[in-house]
Amino acid sequence: MKIVLGSDHAAIDLRKWLVAELQKLGHETVEVGARDTTAYDYPDAADELAACLHEFDFGIVICGTGIGISVRANRYSHVRCALCTTEYMAEMAREHNDANVLALGARVLGTEQALAIVKTFAVGKVSTVERHLNRIKKLGAPVL
Ligand code: RB5
Repeated sequence: MKIVLGSDHAAIDLRKWLVAELQKLGHETVEVGARDTTAYDYPDAADELAACLHEFDFGIVICGTGIGISVRANRYSHVRCALCTTEYMAEMAREHNDANVLALGARVLGTEQALAIVKTFAVGKVSTVERHLNRIKKLGAPVL
């Protein structure tokens, strides 16, 4: 799969570790956001990822908690970003929410736990059940 990963400085170590693991598994990866541990604002990394998401199967955004970067990513109408701390959440994010971006917290998760969540998200499929599809459609409806 083609996967884009974006992070701030707080998550660069986890991002680079995940990139190496994903490449070993045969995935194609592109990185956006922080280049090193110099302070880098997480909204900027989310903006960069949102701008190129259409070129990828899915995206992964990572900051210290995963909160700030997921909030910013979800400002985009073409992004459905899910902050996940368990494999079950990753499975549901795909099946019930049709998430196209996974958010992780580098200061929250261990590396192996993060990889397990990514692997679950990667193989996840959206539900074909009508009530789930109706709810996903409502996620994209304009708000006041
Ligand atoms: C950076 O210190 C930290 O605030 C950021 O990585 C993230 O946790 C924000 O939500």
